[in-house]
Amino acid sequence: MTLLVSGIGELVTWDEDQPIRHDAAFVVDDGVIAWVGAAAQAPAADERVDVGGRAVIPGFVDSHAHLVFAGDRSAEFEARMAGQPYSAGGIRSTVEATRAATDDELAAGVARHVAEMRAQGTTTVEIKSGYGLTTHDERRSLRIARRFTSETTYLGAHVVPAGAGVAEYVELVTGEMLDACAPHARWIDVFCEDGAFDADAARTVLTAGAAAGLMPRVHANQLGHGPGVRLAVELGAAAADHCTFLSDADVDALASSDTVAGLLPGVEFSTRHPYPDARRLLDAGVTVSLASDCNPGSSYTSSMPFCVALAVREMSMTPREALWAATAGGARSLHRDDIGHLRPGARADYVVLDAPSHVHLSYRPGVPIVASVS
Ligand code: NIG
Ligand code: FE
Repeated sequence: MTLLVSGIGELVTWDEDQPIRHDAAFVVDDGVIAWVGAAAQAPAADERVDVGGRAVIPGFVDSHAHLVFAGDRSAEFEARMAGQPYSAGGIRSTVEATRAATDDELAAGVARHVAEMRAQGTTTVEIKSGYGLTTHDERRSLRIARRFTSETTYLGAHVVPAGAGVAEYVELVTGEMLDACAPHARWIDVFCEDGAFDADAARTVLTAGAAAGLMPRVHANQLGHGPGVRLAVELGAAAADHCTFLSDADVDALASSDTVAGLLPGVEFSTRHPYPDARRLLDAGVTVSLASDCNPGSSYTSSMPFCVALAVREMSMTPREALWAATAGGARSLHRDDIGHLRPGARADYVVLDAPSHVHLSYRPGVPIVASVS
């Protein structure tokens, strides 16, 4: 069955020659983009849909989210807005609530957040564990996440749980817990930060994960300057996410690597921290992704359009750079070449905007701008 999509006001394909086309059409064959070209040259197809001059973009690739959790931390947010600082320690209150929740409760929460994401144009999401922090709770978190995405990430090294010592916990994370979790994960992540894991512990965790077949990603340089970014580059990690506090050496290291710098502006919005300097990264030639970091503590948004708008307004990214980062950049961060673009061969994951161009994603912030998601 083939479908011709026509009447497109603006088609964002990220094709090298014509990344954004006008008067374009495309054909979907069995869930894959089979043809893209000028509307006047469109081939015949079994079915045809006219989108009435609206813009069509690749579905968002949200490459960083923590959706397996229970509980509510709105009081913590309220206190922050009254001047309290954010601290990584809040993670432990979500851990307590998550451990107390049933599988059905956790799965219902993931389903609700994935549905919210999809309604806002996200067609691929990465989901981390990290609020269980026992072998049993990390494994069930990943098993639940796997029902919703193939991009699952083992984050046993989120924080050291209450009552445990760092050395004994790293031994668990790299031993029994890793063995239990690796079959259900594609990636391994670590929160490399003061108050979580230092460079040595993070290296131990990521190296053990890599030996078990998991590819590394890092929560790096979120709350202050530190070794996370350079460790990510040293280990060839797919992503160094956050990148809020960077030295020149960090930027240089990223620029000469394949590690994607993941920017998560929902965090800075929700913690009142300074936004990362996206211009400095882009001007240095670093590949940048944008993601929601959806989690109940530091960034409780599921909206990629909101993240795009923040990136444009607060981080000096152009609307086009922000959309690239939220689609193709996310795909790079997940080592995927079948998503994040609409060139022939891509999965037919596309979003019709209720707007004539992608600029409206940031020009009309907070507006339900997604007309349909395929
Ligand atoms: O990406 N940085 C570590 N983890 C999450 C925060 C989790 C929380 O506060 O519950 C993050 O910001
Ligand atoms: Fe995170």
